[in-house]
Amino acid sequence: LIEGTALNNLDKAQSASLYPCGRELLSFPEPLKLVVLGATGSIGRQTLEIVRENPNRFQVVALSCHGRVLELEHELTLLAAACPDSPTPLVAVTDAAARITASGMTGLSKYLLGHGPAALVEAVEAPDEVHVVVNGVVGAAGLEPTLAAARRGVRIALANKESLVVGGDLVRREILAHGAEILPVDSEHSAMAQCLSGRTESELHRLILTASGGPFRLTNAADLANVTLEEVLNHPTWNMGPKITVDSATLMNKGLEIIEAHHLFGVPYDRIDVLVHPGSYVHSFVEFVDGALLAQLGTPDMKLPIQYAINGEKHWPLSGGRLDLLQVGSLSFEKPDYERFPCLGLARQAGLAGGSATITLNGANEVAVAALLEHKIRYSDIPRIIEEVLSTESVGTVDSLPDALEFDSLARQAAEAVVARLA
Ligand SMILES: NC(=O)c1ccc[n+]([C@@H]2O[C@H](COP(=O)([O-])OP(=O)(O)OC[C@H]3O[C@@H](n4cnc5c(N)ncnc54)[C@H](OP(=O)(O)O)[C@@H]3O)[C@@H](O)[C@H]2O)c1
Repeated sequence: LIEGTALNNLDKAQSASLYPCGRELLSFPEPLKLVVLGATGSIGRQTLEIVRENPNRFQVVALSCHGRVLELEHELTLLAAACPDSPTPLVAVTDAAARITASGMTGLSKYLLGHGPAALVEAVEAPDEVHVVVNGVVGAAGLEPTLAAARRGVRIALANKESLVVGGDLVRREILAHGAEILPVDSEHSAMAQCLSGRTESELHRLILTASGGPFRLTNAADLANVTLEEVLNHPTWNMGPKITVDSATLMNKGLEIIEAHHLFGVPYDRIDVLVHPGSYVHSFVEFVDGALLAQLGTPDMKLPIQYAINGEKHWPLSGGRLDLLQVGSLSFEKPDYERFPCLGLARQAGLAGGSATITLNGANEVAVAALLEHKIRYSDIPRIIEEVLSTESVGTVDSLPDALEFDSLARQAAEAVVARLA
């Protein structure tokens, strides 16, 4: 199965990358009108910080949260204080109970959009003018607004890697049809984009994603069965939301990033490698056809890739730390351990299988991570759950959003059943 479909993937991947490599980017007048999805999360809050530091350059026209409406209200207050000339943005609250709460809050009720996940799409479609959609939603819930942004023909500053893992081909279709563009926010993919600046696709040969190795880089296999949730959430270099922090501990995050890189840059899976780089100074490498290897280095600060994407790939002044190479001293790299971190191999296999396999991988992973965060399962159960679901769910073709949602739902049901058995 994997070998058969790998060839199709290779053909498809080489024919169309999502990233506008060597192409002219969209240009917009200032202030840039932003939609910030996932505004209460780690990416969303850092995006709003950038807006507050540059009140004349950006204007937020819509934002969203899922359940944390008090945090959203706080973000709106900070925004209003820093950008007094900007109108209050439209607000999407996707969790049903939280939306009821929000409808009773004077600061929010007047600006509230509709109910449920559809509110994310409304946040993209309703404002009169939108230039950039920053997608900082976590999980497959980010796919529909990414598709809506593609249909609107705007710039998508994409942090939500799950959009491409679940619907890479669907996103590509809408981007090409509507003249939209995707600029990556994930630091590894942003690093690659920075290395590719001014290049063409034909010069690109191989991508090397760097990985910190997570909190269990040096933990032996036997001890991994007994790690605590607190240890799982203790990432050595990055401070992020809980789901991506768990994914970083299992290395599923790197697996999802392999699939993201495949869709973004149109590079076949056998030319996307992973290197463990514990310091997280090198954010990734690009190898060109002549063997030249370019890297981007920096401190672990997501504001750099966020603002590079929003600004249409321009380096713009940023307060904060600078990398002191003398203090770094030397850079070290290791091979990833596919035995201790099976999620990495599972993600690669799902990518090679193509079709619905990456949707199944992602759905099972989201259920397993949620179960770990709710103390229902152990860390070492995560790859078991995903492997079992991948082996029982058949791989099908994904031609439309309803197809993707159906495969996602089947994967989640299958994973819930395994969680119930293990819990
Ligand atoms: N954090 C980073 O440094 C980083 C780096 C690279 C890539 N990314 C990617 O960026 C995305 C966001 O990560 P994060 O760390 O910012 O996550 P986070 O801190 O957990 O924030 C997630 C955001 O999404 C909202 N949300 C949660 N569930 C939702 C749902 N079902 N429907 C709609 N919105 C929902 C949350 O709302 P509430 O707050 O109301 O729950 C919050 O605003 C992920 O795809 C991640 O892989 C993150």
